[in-house]
Amino acid sequence: MPESRPNSRIPGFYKLPLDQRRNELLSQAGLSAEDLLLLDMGGVDASGADKIVENVVGIYALPLGLGLNFLINGVDRLIPMAVEEPSVIAAASNAARLVREGGGFTARADESVMTAQVELREVVDTTRSTAAIESARAEIIALADATLPRLRERGGGCRDLDVRSLPDHRLVVHLHIDCLDAMGANMVNTVAEAVADRLAEIAEAKVGLRILTNLCDRRVVHVDGRVPYRALAADSSAEAGAALARDIEAASRFAEDDSYRAATHNKGIMNGVDPVVIATGNDWRGIEAGAHAFAARDGRYKPLATWRAEDDGLVGRLKMPMALGTVGGTLQVHPGAQLALRILGTSSARELAEIIGSVGLAQNLAALKALAGEGIQRGHMALHRRATGQKT
Ligand code: MEV
Repeated sequence: MPESRPNSRIPGFYKLPLDQRRNELLSQAGLSAEDLLLLDMGGVDASGADKIVENVVGIYALPLGLGLNFLINGVDRLIPMAVEEPSVIAAASNAARLVREGGGFTARADESVMTAQVELREVVDTTRSTAAIESARAEIIALADATLPRLRERGGGCRDLDVRSLPDHRLVVHLHIDCLDAMGANMVNTVAEAVADRLAEIAEAKVGLRILTNLCDRRVVHVDGRVPYRALAADSSAEAGAALARDIEAASRFAEDDSYRAATHNKGIMNGVDPVVIATGNDWRGIEAGAHAFAARDGRYKPLATWRAEDDGLVGRLKMPMALGTVGGTLQVHPGAQLALRILGTSSARELAEIIGSVGLAQNLAALKALAGEGIQRGHMALHRRATGQKT
């Protein structure tokens, strides 16, 4: 860790030659020359990869860039982003600079609660079995906790359970487990398997599936960001900024009213989310599944972030599930993922969720601003050319 927090506002970073950008990262994030070598080989070598998955024949690399200008809950963060799409990193950095003018992102992540599902089939009387499971709540929670002694020691564990009924004589028992800094998939699946037989006995039913749900709606990140009108307009005029803000609000309302548009709006959010999820060795398929199930939770697919032109500026709000780990899983065996966490300056899964939610909101702002203004092709591609020093 560096002595002091890095400054993520580095004007002209994009103009520096690659080696100078790396030196800047080295000094800002307190890295060593060895750490930089790690970045040359994609964060993991073939023999390391051989320990992660099966049938390894090599490694496959993505560009890793730094998202800049991020001020999140009053703390400056350098954002490692692994992504192949041009303009994503430049656009996120640009939008983060606008939100910085309004005081930065305010983010809050729920506790790291993952949910195990135990499906019970052939339930004779679902009402009676539901009541029986609910009255055995303490016993089942104790049984779940007994499978997670190390998590319990650190203050995590099973917090609650509830029972839902499904058609065709089925019940689903949800066990809610605080996984602390782990993503928790393995722990939650272990719990589901450990309690299933006893639940079936209590419910006089047969055991069905036992697995986590990726719709982790108790592990949601909430992010707000405000851009003052003057910061929004190219000519720094409050009137032009307010007019653009109204157009961005209209773009948000389009997504709120139309699922076809909401899908693309949310794709723009995931443009920011996934690169950081990938760089930190987390399960981006789980994040994607959770995001889209959450977006459709009311029966119609909706945007994960919305924007309003308010009295004191353009205000964006994002809410989405964010199941991430800063310990265990791939992280343990992927030096590049460990390095990404050091660059971010966090070892807390909740803080990581707050950071990644903020990048998602920034990315969404960048897309809507370009779409509402000059159009995506001119807006984003101009950013890309600027970032890579290409001539128009
Ligand atoms: C492109 O990767 C993402 C956008 O289509 C998102 C959006 O339309 O909001 C620009």
